[in-house]
Amino acid sequence: MDRPIGMFDSGFGGLTVARALIDLLPAEDVVYIGDTGRYPYGNKPLDEVRDHATEIATSLVSDYGAKAVVVACNTAASAGLDKLRADLPVPVIDVIEPGARSLITTTVSGRVGVIGTVGTISSGSYVHAVEAAAAAAGRDDIVLTSAACPGFVEFVERGQTSGDEVMVLAERLLAPIVAADLDALLFGCTHYPYLARVVTDVVGTGVTLVSSADETAFAAADLLRELGLLRSSADRVGRRTFLSSGDVEIFRELGSRLLGPELDSALPWPAR
Ligand code: DGL
Repeated sequence: MDRPIGMFDSGFGGLTVARALIDLLPAEDVVYIGDTGRYPYGNKPLDEVRDHATEIATSLVSDYGAKAVVVACNTAASAGLDKLRADLPVPVIDVIEPGARSLITTTVSGRVGVIGTVGTISSGSYVHAVEAAAAAAGRDDIVLTSAACPGFVEFVERGQTSGDEVMVLAERLLAPIVAADLDALLFGCTHYPYLARVVTDVVGTGVTLVSSADETAFAAADLLRELGLLRSSADRVGRRTFLSSGDVEIFRELGSRLLGPELDSALPWPAR
């Protein structure tokens, strides 16, 4: 079906998922909304995040004709996935289930961790998703350690992904993760892969870092294929549209550094 795939995040984090999706399905058109005018979502009450997610996902379908919506934000998925799935007339793909699956596939020791925003961690969404993924894989040895990392998203949104300041914060916030002696750690926030270097420096190279981006792209591709919703012609380069509720020039500039050359322009959302 020749309609675009819609995606959204509070800002730049979902670009990690967009990168994976563009690479996996290069012929597909993609419309991405970064809600930088209202970010961060991580410290907001979950019902407020749910309202933002509903507004954006509805706009992706009604204003941009999205044939499916990828919730490329763990906080939005933790707050509103059930509502989005109930309300929207198109399939909704999230980052939490694919990430949890990937974490369980990766671990050997069974000691796993997840880091995310305060909203995501306090919602318990990963406790449920990891339990379900462990049960599906027949693993009864899984012990999950979770840590909220307030402040990480703000560093990424400023484009500050290295340096002493972020390192000091990471050392403090990741202390429970280091103490738990894990072998696999999931980025339960789509912004965090941009801090992979800092996180590795703190937790050590013995911990495999798992990002839900690739796994989510695979899940989206599988679902679209199953439902017969992939484009009829794969022999083209898809059109990518990036929209931001904040400053579009900043979105274009930092976004192209994070995602790559496909993000060469950004438009305002909602359309003026
Ligand atoms: N990238 C988001 C997530 O995956 C949201 C971060 C935020 O806005 O606080 O949770």
